[in-house]
This record gives sequence, C-alpha cells and structure tokens, in this order.
Amino acid sequence: MQKLLEKEIDMTKILVVCLGNICRSPLAEGILQSRLPNHFTVDSAGTISMHEGCHPDQRAIKIGQRYGVDISLQQSRPIVAADFQEYDHIYCMDISVYQKVQSLAGNDAERRKVKLFLEEAGYTKGHNEVPDPYWGTLADFDEVYHLLVDASDKIAEKFRTESQK
Ligand code: 4NP
Repeated sequence: MQKLLEKEIDMTKILVVCLGNICRSPLAEGILQSRLPNHFTVDSAGTISMHEGCHPDQRAIKIGQRYGVDISLQQSRPIVAADFQEYDHIYCMDISVYQKVQSLAGNDAERRKVKLFLEEAGYTKGHNEVPDPYWGTLADFDEVYHLLVDASDKIAEKFRTESQK
C-alpha cells in the first residue's frame, strides 16, 4: 500500500549517509527534510553498524534543538543493499563514506545514485566534505549544522528549478 501511494504521488526518496549515522547524517536528514516539499522523503544511514539502534549523539540533538530541528527520535542503522533500489539519490558526507558506499552498489545504475552531499549543492573539489564533529566540541556541531543548512537550501533550490523545467 505504501509503495502504491509513493508511486501515485511520484515520491522522490533521498538517503544521506555518514560513518556512524549519529552525528552528520541525522542532522542532514532533519534539515533537508524540513527544506523539501512533502513528496520528498529523506532517511539516513551509516557505513558502520556500531551504533545501530542508538539515537543521535546528544550534541547533534542539542544543536538541532537550538535551531528547531528535532532529530531525537531517529535511530542509527547501517546502509543495506536494498537501499540502492529503494532510494533515488544517495548523498554521502565525505569522500571515504562515498568510496565505501560506491563499493557497496550493485551495478552502474546504483553507482550513479551515489554523490557527495556538498557537490550536489554546488561545492567544488577541496570543499566537498562535511567534517566529522564526533571527536570535536559543541561548536564543531554548530558549524556542521550551518554547513548542512547552506547545502540543504541549495539542494532544495536545485530540485525546485528542475521541477519547473
Ligand atoms: P558520524 O560521526 O559519521 O557523523 O555519525 C561519527 C560517529 C561515530 C564514530 C565516528 C564518526 N565512531 O567512530 O564511533
């Protein structure tokens, strides 16, 4: 039934991926979802399963709350093979995540779905990675938040422009 509904209203499904799925991609999921219309769904995953089932890092939750994005109920999960069929776009937070996700894709069509989040937003080489704040401070999470907002606004604008063509 869910599948039927998704088809009828032409859903676009986006997956954002980082390493642990507890810092960057949960924030990216919450922010990007808030910038896109309802026929877009955004989910997130990690390339490791170490934090599977855990809620996001407390610092990520706190920074989200500071700006009105509630990510507290999200739960970490690893990316799985089925995600490459399920999602239309798979956005990676940094180059090592991108390389790992590319290596998991089953064919060229699946590989073409995998992009760097910041490159999709128009950032150029050398500026195309979202830094990992995991070993940093709350200020690092704040900085990552603003980078993700800027990129999410640009990606949302890109989808808007494409839909008007
Ligand atoms: P994330 O950050 O990839 O943005 O969720 C990290 C979370 C956990 C670990 C590393 C990075 N870790 O090594 O457990």
